[in-house]
Amino acid sequence: MTLIDTHTHLFAEEFDSDRKEVVQRAISAGVNKLFLPNIDSSSIQSMLDLEKQFPENCFAMMGLHPCSVKENYLEELKIIEDWFLKRKFSAVGEIGMDYHWDKTFIPQQKDAFSKQIDLAKKYNLPIVIHQRECFDDVFEIVKSKNGNNLKGIFHCFTGTIEEANRIISLGGFKMGIGGAVTYKNSKLPEVLKQIDLKHIVLETDSPYLTPVPHRGKRNESSFVIFVAQKIAEVKGITVEEVAKITTKNAEDIFG
Ligand code: NI
Repeated sequence: MTLIDTHTHLFAEEFDSDRKEVVQRAISAGVNKLFLPNIDSSSIQSMLDLEKQFPENCFAMMGLHPCSVKENYLEELKIIEDWFLKRKFSAVGEIGMDYHWDKTFIPQQKDAFSKQIDLAKKYNLPIVIHQRECFDDVFEIVKSKNGNNLKGIFHCFTGTIEEANRIISLGGFKMGIGGAVTYKNSKLPEVLKQIDLKHIVLETDSPYLTPVPHRGKRNESSFVIFVAQKIAEVKGITVEEVAKITTKNAEDIFG
């Protein structure tokens, strides 16, 4: 059984002391493809170092995270754009908007998101979307730019069935399901019961959002199995079946 972690920040400093062991633990657990979403110019080097160390397993994305969109975002975007001229990446990510922490730069976040979708279209790459407390605004932008085989993932999906159906209606987009589905008060299981598994991919968002039974500790990619197990339980199928479907879905997105 093989699983794909479509969203993992294993290059983050939380893994500085044992990064190699963490990746090897994932591979041993059958989680042999790890997709790395970039944050901003400060995370690029550690992300590329990790990819270089595990070229068969780790795949870098390139993008500017909405929480890193500040006064200097145009300079940051220039650095991101230049990287696409230098080499190939698995996706443009992670990009999007976040109204939770700071609403100061909403116009800049919108502009950065929009420009990075254009980059994805230019290079024919999928997009990996971060959205927090701004689903409608994010959705409007994606919808306005949809078409020409635009595809991608709404990472860390925890929304309603209506939101899930809107994502599905775009045609090329899947929902990234992570540790939140295992939480006691999560409404995600009810939503998942109503949608076909062909619309979802698995993720951890390591080091955050650790699934039960490790909630409260640092998350890592091998824990994606707990997400798969929970989905299997919710859908009444085997974990092997969940692995097979979600792995194919992830391959459809990343090629
Ligand atoms: Ni992330």
